[in-house]
Amino acid sequence: MTSRPTAVITGASSGIGEATAKRLAEAGYRVVITARRESRLAELAADLGTAGHEVVPHAFDITDPAAVDAFAAGLDRCDVLINNAGGAIGMETVAEANPADWRTMFESNVIGTLQMTQALLPKLIDSGNGTVLVVSSTAGHGTYEGGGGYVAAKHGSHALAQTLRLEIVGEPVRVIEIAPGMVHTDEFALTRFRGDAAKAAKVYEGVDEPLTADDIAQTIVWTVTRPAHVNVDLLVIRPRAQASNYKVHRRR
Ligand SMILES: NC(=O)c1ccc[n+]([C@@H]2O[C@H](COP(=O)([O-])OP(=O)(O)OC[C@H]3O[C@@H](n4cnc5c(N)ncnc54)[C@H](OP(=O)(O)O)[C@@H]3O)[C@@H](O)[C@H]2O)c1
Repeated sequence: MTSRPTAVITGASSGIGEATAKRLAEAGYRVVITARRESRLAELAADLGTAGHEVVPHAFDITDPAAVDAFAAGLDRCDVLINNAGGAIGMETVAEANPADWRTMFESNVIGTLQMTQALLPKLIDSGNGTVLVVSSTAGHGTYEGGGGYVAAKHGSHALAQTLRLEIVGEPVRVIEIAPGMVHTDEFALTRFRGDAAKAAKVYEGVDEPLTADDIAQTIVWTVTRPAHVNVDLLVIRPRAQASNYKVHRRR
């Protein structure tokens, strides 16, 4: 067994998860990086390894229960679980949305988080000072037109985190929820608009300094590295130019 505290990060092949893996590695954690794209994980593992960090890549789909269980069974220890994998698909109204897209969003943002948390909770408890962190969204705290399926899924992630904290109080595991607003990552909006780069670019058009993946990574690392008895329940973080899900200042 490694002597280093171990952080498992889902969705580490891009964006917030990748940035968080880098920051946690710099903070002294052995990082176990997971996502579906094996090649992206291999690249990140090589970069972090070259920089002298301990990193273990594991490619699997968090919506596949057998894959999640096999992953957890093969892990010697887990001190921190960062449930970050997920995202949005589409901007259709409730009247017009495809239920298959809602299912996909619910599967990755909620069921994937549930399965990872269930599978690793025994190891987090055994660590003596475990942390479960859920990356929800401001979409988990308010709705907007066209956001229906993503909003519903992120309200699910929020409910999971808040419920888990109530249920495991007394165990040596804290539960943290980070709810970001607008973060300019390479793939989030591209995935949402099914690969349409022009539509994806419009999301950030004229916005002065949307948050970056590293802004969220640094925030995550700050919460995770507080003393073990300090539980940051919920942290909502937006760029200065975004006052709410609705109110975004754009340069003309
Ligand atoms: N960007 C924003 O404005 C924003 C705001 C608030 C919250 N968030 C949330 O922050 C998280 C990260 O977002 P991001 O902006 O970094 O987007 P991103 O770059 O698209 O990252 C999503 C990550 O999730 C992984 N993933 C998706 N489905 C998966 C599955 N079924 N199994 C395993 N891995 C899966 C993807 O990797 P693979 O494709 O390789 O599997 C990818 O690494 C998401 O939960 C998102 O909803 C983002």
